[in-house]
Amino acid sequence: MLTPLILSGGSGTRLWPISRRNLPKQFLSLAGSDTLFQQTLRRAMALPGATSPIVVASDEQRFLAAEQLQELGIEKPGILLEPVARNTAPAIAVGALEALARDPDPILLVLPADHLVTDTAAFADAVARAMPLATDGWLVTFGIRPDRPETGFGYIRRGADLGQQVFRVEEFVEKPVLDVARGYVDSGRYDWNSGMFLFRASRYLEELQEHAPAMLAAARKAYENANTDLDFTRLQADAFATAPSDSIDYAVMEKTSRAAVVPVSCGWSDIGSWDALWMAADKDDNGNHLEGDVLAIDTRGSLVRSHDRHLVATVGLDDVVVVTTPDATLVARRDASQDVKKIVEQLKSAG
Ligand code: GDD
Ligand code: MG
Repeated sequence: MLTPLILSGGSGTRLWPISRRNLPKQFLSLAGSDTLFQQTLRRAMALPGATSPIVVASDEQRFLAAEQLQELGIEKPGILLEPVARNTAPAIAVGALEALARDPDPILLVLPADHLVTDTAAFADAVARAMPLATDGWLVTFGIRPDRPETGFGYIRRGADLGQQVFRVEEFVEKPVLDVARGYVDSGRYDWNSGMFLFRASRYLEELQEHAPAMLAAARKAYENANTDLDFTRLQADAFATAPSDSIDYAVMEKTSRAAVVPVSCGWSDIGSWDALWMAADKDDNGNHLEGDVLAIDTRGSLVRSHDRHLVATVGLDDVVVVTTPDATLVARRDASQDVKKIVEQLKSAG
């Protein structure tokens, strides 16, 4: 059985002012009419043998998640609610426990809710290639060919060929510094970690037991003492709060000796910033991605998004981002779009 486990707890601050704390990016329609969360669900549910999904989200976002699941007509999803965010490793642990409560030996397909995949057939093919290894006890990652020394990703060095275009992971390095990332990209021997994983739920828990036993104990306690009603499973707050906050990448993937990588070319993009969204979006002959009432004259390489009927006009601009919402407008150089999170930090500290 293949159980999709959708991680939906991030806050997406670099996509301000569209992405807000109460409406983070995974719940927005940033590319196409479905939200990123819904696209992720559809992609997973279309896979052969997929069961109804498990979603791990923050308690604050429960209605967004439930409503968007309902819009797709998904029956009986498991929605696990975190009282506080403890990063991805504990989130996957509780998801694994839920999957094991439904099925004796489920295989989990862990998917971030905020990624874009344009070639779903290639994605499905990669999952099919990964299945035999996951069944065999490997922790399978999906590798993306890097085209820049991005420091926000994990890097995977391909080792021995395990057949069928699948490789043993020789080294997994989460978020290296720029010089190191540059060396990796230049060497041609590393893939980006896409952040999607396939493994038996029981294998993940075994790895946690070995590398982060306190985290596993806390997740287990929070899950076993959860408060479940018709719609939601609320993890027990005190227990969950004691779980060390860590990502699967640091807690497990850097440490395990049984990781494999399936290289995949599926139009993947982590819509982490306005620049990433511009890269992934359709563009006109001037390299512009324009949405809503926009008049762009002598403008190139830009993303301009107007809200409602508010006309946004640009003239004589290259490589900028302009985004309007009812109560805020962002104007930025496209190459500075990683720093948009500084706006959110300033606003937060200003109360
Ligand atoms: N439920 C829940 N709880 N979900 C979470 C939490 C949490 O505490 N923290 C993050 N998530 C979700 C995010 O919404 C996102 O969908 C996914 O888990 C990954 O978290 P990110 O915070 O976006 O991770 P990252 O982008 O820094 O790094 C990961 O993804 C990269 C590719 O995009 C790593 O796996 C990297 O190795 C990888 O290259
Ligand atoms: Mg991310």
